[in-house]
Amino acid sequence: MQINNNGAMIRAKAAHVVDAVVNKGRSLDRAIETANIDETNSQKSLFKAICYGTIRFYWELKLQLGQYISRPIKRKDNIIETLLIIGFFQIKKTRIPSHAIVAQTVEAVRLLKKPNLTAFANAVLRNFIRSSSKECINSNEEAIFNHPAWLIKMLKNSWPHKWQEIIENNNIQAPMWLRVNHKKIATKDYLKKIAYSQNLSIDEIGYIGDLDQSICLKNPISVKSLPDFDNGYVSVQDGAAQIAVECLLNDLGGNILDACAAPGGKTGQLLEKINDDSTVTAVDIDPFRVEIIKENLSRLELKAKIITADVADTKSWWDSQLFDLILMDAPCSATGVIRRHPDIKHLKREKDIDALNKIQVNIINSLWHLLKPGGKLLYVTCSVLEEENDLVIKKLKLLHPDILINNLLLNNNIRDVMHKTNYGYQLLPGIKGMDGFYFSYLEKAIL
Ligand SMILES: C[S@@+](CC[C@H](N)C(=O)[O-])C[C@H]1O[C@@H](n2cnc3c(N)ncnc32)[C@H](O)[C@@H]1O
Repeated sequence: MQINNNGAMIRAKAAHVVDAVVNKGRSLDRAIETANIDETNSQKSLFKAICYGTIRFYWELKLQLGQYISRPIKRKDNIIETLLIIGFFQIKKTRIPSHAIVAQTVEAVRLLKKPNLTAFANAVLRNFIRSSSKECINSNEEAIFNHPAWLIKMLKNSWPHKWQEIIENNNIQAPMWLRVNHKKIATKDYLKKIAYSQNLSIDEIGYIGDLDQSICLKNPISVKSLPDFDNGYVSVQDGAAQIAVECLLNDLGGNILDACAAPGGKTGQLLEKINDDSTVTAVDIDPFRVEIIKENLSRLELKAKIITADVADTKSWWDSQLFDLILMDAPCSATGVIRRHPDIKHLKREKDIDALNKIQVNIINSLWHLLKPGGKLLYVTCSVLEEENDLVIKKLKLLHPDILINNLLLNNNIRDVMHKTNYGYQLLPGIKGMDGFYFSYLEKAIL
């Protein structure tokens, strides 16, 4: 069998990526970037699919590998264990011919400078291919659901009747959503434009979602192929993330704060929707991400006042003008976007949730003082955990007697598919093809 060195190289690099995420706590995007696979490499999309898929199904694959080796692989050979887990992923979950998987993996063992393990890798993969059932036997909950035990426990706690559905959806790859900039083009016209550019019919390319500006693509395409992307016609943003600004449409105007704004997805959408007499101040703590807000707004040809600061440290950045409207898109566990970022399952820990709750309460509590009486604050997270959602608002209510909880008034049927919670609304991941988001719309009572 002829060995394609590129195929072996991308598998060796994928092993380093998965190892970096699972064992070294690096983010998947960052690890993929560090692997430095050229854009022109014909197997770049296969490389990414292998990295994402292995990270997504890691627990099941690791347990299963353990059942095909007689003793644990030595620590110094960890990278070969990861390479074999990647091999199991390809055998179980892709249509790549088995002989190619074995040949490229064995060659990758050589590239990883472990030539003494080639026969071992070959034998393990061949045994797995030969086994009559590829199902995982004696599975624990982590391997059945491909989620860490602490997260399964928290999901059961927050969603006693829905946790399995959430987990199933978390393990399905998310579609690509776009937000069309109505200051440049109507959604239906952009859909035509993109279908034409891809030489496909409108039905083949995708559909207009329930949100005014949203398009869901049937198959992802590279950002570079999106027509007039550089001219600001469109942004890549999940449908659920677009709901936040839609919730504000009846109140949109005046002095608006976009707190925790980077990379500026919602800042851009706010600016696409407001009139010229309104202003948006966008604040984020992370200088690197603030630069991305600037790039995004420059591409969209829109303007906001952009500040790098800890938004909770109001003395350091606030000009004493009360806000009519605050959008607080809180830092959170991102447990609603696991479909898109499966590395979250490996990177987050149970103790992070408590710490996040404290950060969220601290920020929202500080921002409450900046709101005009009669003003509104939309608290948003892409978390599905009660601790970061209703329990934050519950604590805030204890601190401020002037909080009113508003219903979401949406011009579409999205609210019908959300779960009403004590203080807000939860969209669960996968519903209508969207990510999991929480929204609580608060009003400052005029006392
Ligand atoms: C969920 S992301 C925001 C996404 C953004 N609203 C959008 O739509 O593109 C949360 C952001 O909060 C920022 N952040 C975290 N703690 C902060 C703080 N104390 N002050 C300001 N920004 C903070 C992070 O840097 C991160 O960019």
